[in-house]
Amino acid sequence: MTDPWLVFAGFALAVVVVAGLLRLVPLAPRRRLRRSVILLGFYAATLVVNVSLHWTAAPGLVAGLRVAANVLQLLLVINLAAIAIFDLLLRAARVDYPDILHDVVVGAAYVVALGVLMHRAGVNLTGIVATSAVVTAVIGLSLQATLGNVVGGISLQLDDSINEGDWIELDNKTQGEVKKIRWRHTVIETRDWDTLIIPNGQLMTQSIRVLGKRSGQPVQRRMWVYFNVDFRFAPADVIRVVEEALQGAPLSGVAREPKPHCLCHDMARDNADSVCYYAARYWLTDFSRNDSTNSLVRERIYAALKRAQIPLAIPAKTIFVSQDDTEHRDRKRARELESHMSALAAIDLFANLSEDEQRTLAASARLAPFSRGEVITRQGAKAHWLYVLLKGSAAVRVSASDGDERQVAVLEAPNFFGEMALMTGQPREATVIAQNDVQCLRVDRKDLEGIIQHRPEIASEISGVLATRRVELEAARDGLDLAAKSQRLSSERSRILHSIRDFFALQDDER
Ligand code: CMP
Repeated sequence: MTDPWLVFAGFALAVVVVAGLLRLVPLAPRRRLRRSVILLGFYAATLVVNVSLHWTAAPGLVAGLRVAANVLQLLLVINLAAIAIFDLLLRAARVDYPDILHDVVVGAAYVVALGVLMHRAGVNLTGIVATSAVVTAVIGLSLQATLGNVVGGISLQLDDSINEGDWIELDNKTQGEVKKIRWRHTVIETRDWDTLIIPNGQLMTQSIRVLGKRSGQPVQRRMWVYFNVDFRFAPADVIRVVEEALQGAPLSGVAREPKPHCLCHDMARDNADSVCYYAARYWLTDFSRNDSTNSLVRERIYAALKRAQIPLAIPAKTIFVSQDDTEHRDRKRARELESHMSALAAIDLFANLSEDEQRTLAASARLAPFSRGEVITRQGAKAHWLYVLLKGSAAVRVSASDGDERQVAVLEAPNFFGEMALMTGQPREATVIAQNDVQCLRVDRKDLEGIIQHRPEIASEISGVLATRRVELEAARDGLDLAAKSQRLSSERSRILHSIRDFFALQDDER
């Protein structure tokens, strides 16, 4: 028989070697070695007690100690083997496994090893299994909650739904980082420096939000920062200013992609206030710094709006008291007229009109704002107005013969459009779409007709512009080359002039 002290020395050496190797493998947990050291201590104790009992003749006790020593030997072998396989081999090979797997395998090995030992010692295992079924049922009932937590812990680790390092939100809206998933409980640290210890059973019965986690995507979470600006400022301007500021330079804790952006998400809520509601949205990368990152974003929004002289809405109700007397109305009308007249004067087409003629057009002209992407006028529609483009840019698109829509021109303010159909009585030749925030003045068809009938020479000026634009349209539709375009231009000009004259003469006849 091997000397038990030699066996002890062998185990002690194994523990020292494993401890040394554990130091070499990065990330290998050392806490499990403690169990082996304790077992080794017990084993040494059985040997010491055995030696001291040698002089007192107590054979029963000696035999008992031998069994204990055998059991301890077996447990030591299992523990050291498990550490060697899981914490050294698998970690060194970078195989990822749930922590709990180690404990489950060791537990199962204990049960099997004890079974084998008992069988060798002549214990009737079948009898024990039969009685233990009843005992297990009784224990199971009394330990229901604990077992629930343990099963919860095992499934949490095995199904990989929550991992250490994830940020989660519980049913009660508490958020925190998962620090440890243990057999019975999970440890969560919150941003307030609290540590929550949640029984696994409880964790399994609620719906948990894993923050910012999406398959195949970086871990980042969409955040909303709200602010209000009053109605006097166009949403398109506010959004542009804020987006330029947020996208212009990186912000710590804010993801580059998707880019931060801004949207107007409500207006005059309940008809009770005079503000538009905005939200800047960005993707947070460091969940522990949500408030400070929100604050950074707010600082940037505030500065950008200040630079653009767009003040944040003050939380106040403004009552507009308007003085509706004739004098006030006349003053307002005169101001409007002045601004319309100077807008018309900036357009070549109207530059040669007399002041009276300009005043007639300006008097009935109406401001018409359009936001990005809106159709200002559509190809084929009946014409009621000529448009003077005061601000922004508009794309002119035409449906080609193959059904495709092609862009023929982009008009930048100051400019005009919609004159073709107005002058010839034909449907609109093209669709005009706002490319950004557009401000137009709609000039009434009847006023323009009146002026042209008074001053037929205007028709000749207009026909030049009309001919150029029409040839552009035809070139886009039919794919004309340069030579064909210039040839068509002169013939088109005289044809258009004719048709304008015809059109207006026809109108005269009808009256
Ligand atoms: P109308 O046909 O009344 O409506 C569509 C308008 O698009 C048209 O008048 C022109 O004012 C404008 N348009 C058409 N073709 C061109 C072009 N090539 N360049 C600039 N504007 C154009």
